[in-house]
Amino acid sequence: MIPIIKPVFGKEEEDTVLEIMKSGQITRGRWTLKFKESFSDYIGSTFCHPVCSGTAALYIALKAVGVSSPEDVVIVPAMSFMATIDAVLLAGGKPVVVDVGDDYCMDPEQLEEAVEKYRPKVVIPVHLFGQTADMDRIKEICRENDVIVLEDAAQAHGAEYKGKKAGNLGDLSAFSFYASKNVAMGEGGAILTSDPEIDEKISNWIEFGDHPALNLRITEFQAGIGYWQLQKLDDTNEKRRKIAKLYNREFRDLPALKLPEELDGRKHVFHIYALRHPKRDQILERLIEKGIGARVYYDYTLHQLRNAEHLDCGFSEKVVKEIFAIPVHAALKEDEIAYIVDTVKKVVKDLS
Ligand SMILES: Cc1ncc(COP(=O)(O)O)c(C=O)c1O
Repeated sequence: MIPIIKPVFGKEEEDTVLEIMKSGQITRGRWTLKFKESFSDYIGSTFCHPVCSGTAALYIALKAVGVSSPEDVVIVPAMSFMATIDAVLLAGGKPVVVDVGDDYCMDPEQLEEAVEKYRPKVVIPVHLFGQTADMDRIKEICRENDVIVLEDAAQAHGAEYKGKKAGNLGDLSAFSFYASKNVAMGEGGAILTSDPEIDEKISNWIEFGDHPALNLRITEFQAGIGYWQLQKLDDTNEKRRKIAKLYNREFRDLPALKLPEELDGRKHVFHIYALRHPKRDQILERLIEKGIGARVYYDYTLHQLRNAEHLDCGFSEKVVKEIFAIPVHAALKEDEIAYIVDTVKKVVKDLS
């Protein structure tokens, strides 16, 4: 089976893990510091707090900006991994869900409507599948209404919007370094900001200080692996982009198949190469039968999953019935890519 996910590790990661083990300093050491500094430098934010998962990063980010009761409304898009809405519920806030546009990211028009109706404290644009949301419009709406922008950049390491990196486009951001991510540690996350006041509040929520705090630290092993993954990120993202471009060229004329698009001013890093087709389930079954690890991201919308208040999310409700992903990771070999191309073409044509 060609897996849907495969991290690319090399000698650097291997040597570093051994070095850490031999040193005896397996947590709170120089690799954690090194990762923290290099990640904030790469993204362009002043402060970075590594934590144990993306969910923890979102949760702490929400707590740091004061989400604590159902009066604190947080707007989220209908399409994302469940952690985006679960973090809001865990923090004690009230999630309100809006639809996504053709880019699978938050629809700014619906956001505007929701901001007027619900007066939220925070908006969480998700840079889904590796492409940033329409940040100029989202930020403008939020600025005019005094709403905090928390980017969910869990899938967008290295993605750009008008030359600026995802994670440096709002007031603060949350990343995940889960095994499948473009920077993979196994488990891990980070909260980034350039606002010293927000930074201090984040520190208070993760260090034992003003609040009862959770221990959400990562180990030196995770930080060491993450550091090397970050050094390779531009290369691995380029590989993903090349594969995605080739797929788009090859699949261009397949009937009823909707391809992912890189929009003007945005750099897509193809964390996920997402296709849409009305016969999704049959396609998926046949691809898996033929040894291609295709998968559905996501078969739920967030409002339906958590029974949350929402605007009309008809587009997302349709999309989750049609969307699926094929492997696009940087570990794919030439012959595997060729096999995927041929098989997808054949399967889609057969079902047309
Ligand atoms: C968009 C999005 N948000 C949040 C998360 C949560 O990250 P984690 O699995 O590291 O808790 C993920 C990843 O799985 C994600 O894809």
